Amino acid sequence: MEYDFSNKVIVIIGGTGALGRVLTKSFLNYHSKTIFITYRSEKEMQELKTELDILLEQPLKTSTTIEYIKVDVTNDKETKRLISNIVKRHGQIHILVSVVGAYIGGKNVTQLDESEWDKMININLKSAFLISKHVIPAMVSNNYGKLVYISSRTGLRSDGYDSAYAASKSGLIRFVESASQEVKKSNININCVLPTILDTEPNRKEMPNADFSKWVKLDDLSKVILFLCSDDSKIINGASIPAYGLL
Ligand SMILES: NC(=O)c1ccc[n+]([C@@H]2O[C@H](COP(=O)([O-])OP(=O)(O)OC[C@H]3O[C@@H](n4cnc5c(N)ncnc54)[C@H](OP(=O)(O)O)[C@@H]3O)[C@@H](O)[C@H]2O)c1
Repeated sequence: MEYDFSNKVIVIIGGTGALGRVLTKSFLNYHSKTIFITYRSEKEMQELKTELDILLEQPLKTSTTIEYIKVDVTNDKETKRLISNIVKRHGQIHILVSVVGAYIGGKNVTQLDESEWDKMININLKSAFLISKHVIPAMVSNNYGKLVYISSRTGLRSDGYDSAYAASKSGLIRFVESASQEVKKSNININCVLPTILDTEPNRKEMPNADFSKWVKLDDLSKVILFLCSDDSKIINGASIPAYGLL
């Protein structure tokens, strides 16, 4: 697929994570105008910056500008400040992908602490509410916007021992569905993808005996996300796209 993101201001929330890194590089291949990457850990940001600086120096290639912004998207004030600063400087945000997320599994309901429940709901669900709350007005003014969130197949069906995670990812699916209906007349698409296990280093370390070939490759998932960020998918709105690999 060929996309034109050359005039697009793109925000990748959680861009220093496993999927975020690969997704950012995919956007670079399409000569995006400006990419804002949010991070929390200074160390992870520096690592990614070093990698991307090398890519940007290569003769090609791209005139993309990359900026790094520290933010906790479970915090209303920080999220509002992030969005309003970008909009003040660039006039708009065309595309926002949030790849933030966290997982707690292996505990039954009675073993789960209140703080663990709150963490899952805050990171996996409340973050999408805060991001959407603050970015939608800018997208409405611009009569354009693409928002993509990452849910999980577990949001549709759980096998147990992950109730907080399952509830948060399930809530995200309904959130996307509801919010997408509210903005469809403003040429804004809000969708999410539902991966199973991603083929990441932490997952390989955690499950060394698993068959990695069945897991979802980050490149493959990035391709689906790019499609949802492009005008080729303008008729898709409020969807939860299955991305199950071979599981
Ligand atoms: N990994 C899987 O097998 C799998 C399966 C299904 C769905 N998913 C979903 O896919 C997405 C990407 O997964 P991944 O493996 O790439 O995750 P990851 O490597 O853990 O990356 C998540 C990113 O989100 C950031 N983040 C977490 N809480 C945040 C907050 N409050 N404010 C701002 N940023 C925050 C993290 O920053 P810090 O590292 O600094 O905290 C990290 O950069 C997530 O939504 C995940 O739930 C993953």
